[in-house]
Amino acid sequence: MYVCLCHAVTDKQIREAVHNGATRMCDLSRELGVATDCGKCACMANQLRKEAVQAL
Ligand code: FES
Repeated sequence: MYVCLCHAVTDKQIREAVHNGATRMCDLSRELGVATDCGKCACMANQLRKEAVQAL
């Protein structure tokens, strides 16, 4: 599913980015652009990030 509509980023892309080392929100913002425009995706992206980090 799409998490960030502004940059067309899916939950799968976020999980993959975390697995590849983007474990902080600033990493995800830099690599995928999440939460760098309207910001509405920030909470959902951060939740997915936390879950993916815990699964590492
Ligand atoms: Fe992610 Fe707008 S939905 S920045």
